[in-house]
Amino acid sequence: MKQSVKMIVGNWKMNGLAADLSAAVVEMLADLKGRPASARVGLCPPATLIERMVRTIDGGPVSVGGQDCRVEAKGAFTGGVSAEMLVDAGARLVILGHSERRQEFGESDALVSDKVGAALRAGLTPIVCVGETLAQREAGEAASVVRGQILGSLNDGLAGQDWALAYEPVWAIGTGLTPTLEQIAEIHAAARAAMVERLGDGGRAALILYGGSVNPGNARDILAVDEVGGALVGGASLKAADFLAIIRAAEPAVVAADGQG
Ligand code: PGA
Repeated sequence: MKQSVKMIVGNWKMNGLAADLSAAVVEMLADLKGRPASARVGLCPPATLIERMVRTIDGGPVSVGGQDCRVEAKGAFTGGVSAEMLVDAGARLVILGHSERRQEFGESDALVSDKVGAALRAGLTPIVCVGETLAQREAGEAASVVRGQILGSLNDGLAGQDWALAYEPVWAIGTGLTPTLEQIAEIHAAARAAMVERLGDGGRAALILYGGSVNPGNARDILAVDEVGGALVGGASLKAADFLAIIRAAEPAVVAADGQG
């Protein structure tokens, strides 16, 4: 049985206007205030909403995060947002190396590692994403691809810091498809081994989140898998009720009378 507190992080991606924020966040906060969650909860809206979300949450039990940052602290990088700017807006976390950024913006492992360094410099908790494509899985390369991404994307500075890895199979993101629980267990074990290979003992403490089509129906089973330390949630984090159900699924099992969690 794993004892550590799980971490549930929502990734709104490029969704959300001020109006969505008040509805979703106020509903979530009301629920969490009524019955505090035992999981760590994070929510990563578009950069435009970070400060507003921080103000809405007002010290409540949800950390706000960014979805990316640049390596540099400031400078002539039109459109860029630095880790320091995220902190200035009130963020505490940042998602780095998401597969959408790796694919859309050609982000390499080396760049992700540098971004991790920037996040640590600014005092943010980095959530470093890795995951194989469908072609790589079908070629039997899932574990080796994830190992390579971990070795390349982590940063020496992570040892001893607060950070998390997120295993997100690319083919499971936004598709409604998920790996089997055995496949999740296999890759999470391989990920842990690679984290220790890269950082030594410094790779043992960080949580490994699973991401990719997590929803209220599958969250409890996925979160019970060995080495699954939480979830990174895309689509389902946009609906307060669904996100709350996933947060509740991360709590120590309260088994219902019929045995269904
Ligand atoms: P999804 O996205 O939950 O919508 O599949 C997960 C993610 O991309 O982090």
